[in-house]
Amino acid sequence: MFKINYVLLIFVLSNCVNCNVYIGNGKMKQLYAWKQLGYDFNGTKYIKDADRIRSPGAIHFVQELGDSEKFFIQYNNVPTGIKFVGDLLFLTVPRRRFGIPSTLNYIDRRHSKKLDPLLKPYPNPEAVSSLTSVYRTAIDSCARLWMVDTGLLEVPGARRQVKPPAILAYNWLTHKLDFRYELDPKVLVNERTPGGLTSLTIDVEPTACGEAHAYITDLATNGLIVFSLGARAFWRIDHPSFVHGEKALNFTVAGNVISWKDGLFSIALSDVGGKRLAYYHPMVSTHEYAIDTAVLKNGGADFDKEYKVLGSRGPLSQSGIHSHHAASSVLFYANVARDGIVCWNTKKPLVEENVALIVQDREKLLYITDLAIRQNELYVLVNKMPVFVFSMLNKEEYNFFMHSGQVYDLIKGTVCDN
Ligand SMILES: *[C@@H]1O[C@H](CO)[C@@H](O)[C@H](O)[C@H]1NC(C)=O
Ligand SMILES: *[C@@H]1O[C@H](CO)[C@@H](O)[C@H](O)[C@H]1NC(C)=O
Repeated sequence: MFKINYVLLIFVLSNCVNCNVYIGNGKMKQLYAWKQLGYDFNGTKYIKDADRIRSPGAIHFVQELGDSEKFFIQYNNVPTGIKFVGDLLFLTVPRRRFGIPSTLNYIDRRHSKKLDPLLKPYPNPEAVSSLTSVYRTAIDSCARLWMVDTGLLEVPGARRQVKPPAILAYNWLTHKLDFRYELDPKVLVNERTPGGLTSLTIDVEPTACGEAHAYITDLATNGLIVFSLGARAFWRIDHPSFVHGEKALNFTVAGNVISWKDGLFSIALSDVGGKRLAYYHPMVSTHEYAIDTAVLKNGGADFDKEYKVLGSRGPLSQSGIHSHHAASSVLFYANVARDGIVCWNTKKPLVEENVALIVQDREKLLYITDLAIRQNELYVLVNKMPVFVFSMLNKEEYNFFMHSGQVYDLIKGTVCDN
């Protein structure tokens, strides 16, 4: 009897060692962690390199395959975008190397373990060849999951524009493709533009789903591309405030000097109704800017007259994605230069003193690649990208993380709290 209980106890303990892991003095909880990504295609699991997709009855002859022909090269799979809706978590894996089985994937939270949950192709394994490469997605209030397929295989030394970039959306309730439109070639500056289309933000009233606008950031050739769903039209805005700041170059992440000249990276929208602002910044910058979304929707001709320099967040505030929490008027930033999250209450002037570093973790927040807010919950995806690019991820350690925290817990007692 004692023995059985003992075994049970060990079983429970070993299963629960990682049940609740917190970071940032308990303000954020680790929801998922991966050493490396694996996939589940209709029940067929891929948890190590595989030359070919396995299908029932298929016969393969032994033959050496080049990397470009391989189905799954595990190390090359780095998650970049995350969105959370209902019980579904959407994870994107852009094709920046060979061996990525599926660029758009999901995890059903009801049936997923917390450590190394497998990714399933979205909406199904048959659809994987319809998308080339997706960086990040966006959820709107009309049950749509939006994304830009860059159409680009971005493998160093083997870059290939497989098809023109396109904007598309799935309905995440029916799992059907809602629409797909190729970007108008006139909004693309040169062959580098598609690789810069790494984030998008949707501006829509829940009562006018057909009138949505998408704001697509182009960090490679420094532009903002507007898509009007109502007009099925694209236009492009170029502006000096979309370009990286020379003085903000060369911050370090995990000891690597980041000399990327990434421009416009993220658009965060203020509350719906009335005048709606688009907050924006280049990644390599410490400044924040804003523009009335009415100007964006009107073709952008008045952009230079209407845009506002809001101020500077201070040194080492270089940030990727940011998101606005309407009820508190607080902007939250993925602060890549400090492995943390910073906040700014938009009711206050933007100066360093009004910006707070609310969580920091040199390992578990090492390069926050995506950040989003769902009701009062803030969640982030971390992927250690500079380590992948400049050195080598240790496959025996946890490398990719998803954490979440409550907005009001995160800002409590800081300058962002009202
Ligand atoms: C996956 O399962 C569905 C439903 O059972 C089936 O129709 C489809 O052919 C399967 N696809 C693959 C790639 O095995
Ligand atoms: C960044 O590094 C480059 C190359 O070393 C150098 O030329 C440049 O002056 C540096 N800029 C800043 C702001 O440190």
